[in-house]
Amino acid sequence: MAQFDPQKMLHGADYNYEQWLDMPEILERDFALMKAARCNVMSVGIFSWAMLEPAEDQFEFEWLDELMDRLAGNGLWAILATPSGARPAWMGHKYPEVRVVDEHGRQPHRLRHNHCPTSPIYRAKVRQINTLLAQRYANHPALLLWHISNEYGNNGCRCDLCLGAFRAWLENRYGSLETLNRAWWTTFWSHRYTDWSQIEPVDPSIHGLMLDWRRFVSGQVLDFCRAEIEPLRAFAPAIPVTTNFMLPDVGLDYWAFAPHLDVISWDSYPRWHSEADDVGTAVATAFIHDLHRSYKGRPFLLIESTPSVTNWQGISRPKRPGMHELAALQAVAHGANGVQYFQWRQSRGGEEKFHGAVVSHAGHENTRTFREVTAVGEMLAELQPVINTANESEVAIIYDFQNEWAIDLAQLPRSVDKNYQQRCMAHYRPFWQMGITADIINSTATDFVAYKLIAAPMLYMLQEGVAEALSEYVRNGGTLVLTYLSGLVNESDLTFLGGAPGPLQQLLGIWVEETDALFEHQRQTIRMGEGGLPTRPYTVRQYADILHLSGAEALGSYDHDFYAGSPAVTVNQFGAGRAYYLGARLEDSFLADFYGWLAQITRLEPALGRPLPRGVTAQVRSNAEQAYLFLLNFEPYPQTVVLGDSAGMGLFSGADLHGEITLDGYGFRVLRQPKNR
Ligand code: GLA
Ligand code: ZN
Repeated sequence: MAQFDPQKMLHGADYNYEQWLDMPEILERDFALMKAARCNVMSVGIFSWAMLEPAEDQFEFEWLDELMDRLAGNGLWAILATPSGARPAWMGHKYPEVRVVDEHGRQPHRLRHNHCPTSPIYRAKVRQINTLLAQRYANHPALLLWHISNEYGNNGCRCDLCLGAFRAWLENRYGSLETLNRAWWTTFWSHRYTDWSQIEPVDPSIHGLMLDWRRFVSGQVLDFCRAEIEPLRAFAPAIPVTTNFMLPDVGLDYWAFAPHLDVISWDSYPRWHSEADDVGTAVATAFIHDLHRSYKGRPFLLIESTPSVTNWQGISRPKRPGMHELAALQAVAHGANGVQYFQWRQSRGGEEKFHGAVVSHAGHENTRTFREVTAVGEMLAELQPVINTANESEVAIIYDFQNEWAIDLAQLPRSVDKNYQQRCMAHYRPFWQMGITADIINSTATDFVAYKLIAAPMLYMLQEGVAEALSEYVRNGGTLVLTYLSGLVNESDLTFLGGAPGPLQQLLGIWVEETDALFEHQRQTIRMGEGGLPTRPYTVRQYADILHLSGAEALGSYDHDFYAGSPAVTVNQFGAGRAYYLGARLEDSFLADFYGWLAQITRLEPALGRPLPRGVTAQVRSNAEQAYLFLLNFEPYPQTVVLGDSAGMGLFSGADLHGEITLDGYGFRVLRQPKNR
């Protein structure tokens, strides 16, 4: 691994220099504008293969040499991409195997992000160009970081090469067809396989098959990524690598990718201003920032975001004044060491010509976007001391890709609105609103010890060792929250025998007999007992477990229907800790009250001693000496925050901040305080 240690908070954009080679005055202007916008880095070469290798084995690096030199000459770093995200036409035509095969057959040469991850020819071509790039630029003063490909995903290739690799992967995993048939429960509907060649990932009724296919594809893309990295490490060992991740639902298990990358980066395009207010969008975005910080437990890069507007969201609203700076600062508050954009300059033609850019078709700096980008550049320069500081967390939310895939495939009592990811965010939201930092971790994480509280919504699938690890965590004093739809199947999607929630029964001290599925018009509520939460009824939607106590204590019970009076929320003292079970899908106000109450019981420390107004969060980054308190207001109107004993020096103003402070609409403050005030 190489060390990623930029000395400055990064600020920059994807730069498509090669689109403007015949307009030197534009290129000249670009470098002047980059300086004006306080940029210090550009991501280059992302889709440049056709310019680098215009004909097979004929390479033209001169334009890239010139670009790299100009970047260095202007005090800018380069994040240099490997070009595998899109390929030259000659390659797609000469070597059809590099193109994806989907249900309609071999795709024509078009678009991008559509190579077969298995194709030996594509891998060889990628290795060749990556080797040449590494050899040529390893010691270039501009080169800061490798940008591996672009937005890897599951593009659905099921060509013969991919199928062959899948079958080999299965043979390796199961050893024999007998074992595979048992794991996939193929006696059901006479699905038994008698030859490996019969296996095709086309049967949604064989959940084990489809789950393994998703695992295989994710693993194959990772394998491809690792093959891309190999020549870079060989010829440019000092240069660290990243690949730009996306929202966590693109079919890759990013947890498996993280150890192979030196720094995590991601592309964030929240739909600001698409809802009645921006708070839900802010919470979802914060969750995903925290996820990206958690992949390696280290600061990450926001490597793409729009400086103004997208053009692919159906309705793409420009960010309202103030939102750009707030969104940039949000990333930093949650652990980013830099903010970058897609794109520096709006392209003149093609699919993204109306996508926002730092420099629009107008071509000058007299735009709102340019001014806001410059403001972010200035702000990042002031945030310099925050670089590499940590977000310490006592809370973790478990978010597991493989669990999500298994839930997606399952036919449940209620198969609509399963919403695993949204529910993880719903359990995260109260912490965000309380100003309590949360990590987002995998169910197979091994370091639960650091946390006072772990919530694992809808942990439907328990991979090997997870029930034991969670039990151990609670036994040693941890607090765990589990919910309906938990502990139902093992990693092959085979149900546990002996009742739900399978191997978690002892830990939770309950067993679940039935799950009521509610239509939207149907009513169920729960009521909590005295001495804890408010006793008003809380609304249940969609799922309600009917359960029995086998050691746990009931904290709340259902109000309606044939199971009225039976337990809905339980707690079990287990060793030195407690395991809570929320048997029903409960409204947000329940989660807010419940986690507020648990935060007190488990002595979590919010960033501020006082409650924050709705839509305002507080996040802390710190090192051994200093803490940086970020206060962010996602409402468009001013809100007042009571600092209490959390006074400090305002980072942008230099003023002493104490008492009550008012945040503007979409406003923010960063306070510097001594650590452990
Ligand atoms: C993605 C891609 C970019 C660009 C942007 C547009 O993040 O990586 O190449 O297409 O989307 O928003
Ligand atoms: Zn393929």
